[in-house]
Amino acid sequence: MKLLVTGGLGFIGSNFIRHMLSAHPDCQITNLDKQTYAGNPENLKEFKKNSHYTWVKADILDRKKVDACMSRVEAVVHFAAETHVDRSILDSGDFIRTNVLGTQVLLESAKASGVKRFVHVSTDEVYGSKETGDSREEDVLLPNSPYASSKAASDLLARSYFVTYGFPVIVTRSSNNFGPYQYPEKAIPLLITNALEDKSFPLYGDGLQVRDWLYVLDHAKALDTVLERGVPGEIYNIGGTRSCANVDLVKNILNLMNKSESLIQRIPDRPGHDRRYALNCDRLRALGWKPRASFEDALRQTIGWYKQNKPWWSKIKSGREYRTYYKKQYVREGRLAVRH
Ligand code: NAD
Ligand code: TYD
Repeated sequence: MKLLVTGGLGFIGSNFIRHMLSAHPDCQITNLDKQTYAGNPENLKEFKKNSHYTWVKADILDRKKVDACMSRVEAVVHFAAETHVDRSILDSGDFIRTNVLGTQVLLESAKASGVKRFVHVSTDEVYGSKETGDSREEDVLLPNSPYASSKAASDLLARSYFVTYGFPVIVTRSSNNFGPYQYPEKAIPLLITNALEDKSFPLYGDGLQVRDWLYVLDHAKALDTVLERGVPGEIYNIGGTRSCANVDLVKNILNLMNKSESLIQRIPDRPGHDRRYALNCDRLRALGWKPRASFEDALRQTIGWYKQNKPWWSKIKSGREYRTYYKKQYVREGRLAVRH
């Protein structure tokens, strides 16, 4: 299969490309990625000379470059996005540009070139906070952060291309991912890398917000399943194997790392912080997928990966972009800097 992946230099995209090249040796992948702060060519460096993989450095808003990539492929898996909720609270501009307008450019280009399948990678955050029970694909979307709102806009736009034009779009909504190559601004890699250096982890509010955790390789396999057997026009929730409160997750990881719980630094809550996400995944399970990774094993493997790949994350954390972001973040949170 000839596949266009957008945002393949990021966390989930790079894990997905690695999975596809190993599970489908005949697959030909073009990775369209602008290389923002979150895009890292190091994530796929072993495929640099692989004839089945090409990276095109381009913005998804650049219609000419998008068209050139689109003309060579049969299917698209669209990951490219601004993804960090805290950054969207500081400034939502790039979130609207990339997540909303960029998705529109991709959909137009893919429709014009007769792409056979377009998988739009969305998130459980589009449902908003789910105090009890679980979110189903037909539920009303009530996003609360600028990030989630921009994802909801693109999610609904993608769906509208199926309804209006019969264009074969499939939308997936996954829960919180974790695993190797995740940028150390997200909760789990921030906690692990800080703890490895005996630095504190800033825990928002009472820490009782509940997230559903999905190992990134299970997500990659779910997208592979959807690409092969998903029904055009359908939406699929993709959930993980562990639902837990942030404070319990943080204590669990610190215990696995033999680190003291005194590394937990309580800070004021994130504005608009969703209390709980939970997904019903019956529809995807009916296609034959289920998450395979045991949560504890996957956490141990993830901790092991960050231990073994210190040069990967210390280069990011000592970089100017990262430090500038955290300076702004500390000002917003009104707290003194923890050293990152
Ligand atoms: P990430 O931030 O690690 O990577 C995003 C990638 O997109 C980067 O490589 C970046 O360079 C690229 N990109 C950003 N703007 C671009 C643009 N204008 N043009 C081209 N490339 C651009 O993201 P991630 O965590 O891997 O998330 C991937 C997708 O999965 C996103 O759409 C996100 O909303 C969705 N998602 C993520 C999670 C999660 O837990 N991380 C959960 C559910 C859904
Ligand atoms: P995050 O990884 O940012 O994912 P999301 O906000 O998309 O769910 O955060 C996961 C949870 O951890 C979320 O409830 C916010 C919380 N959190 C903290 O308490 N402190 C932090 O420094 C970060 C980044 C997140």
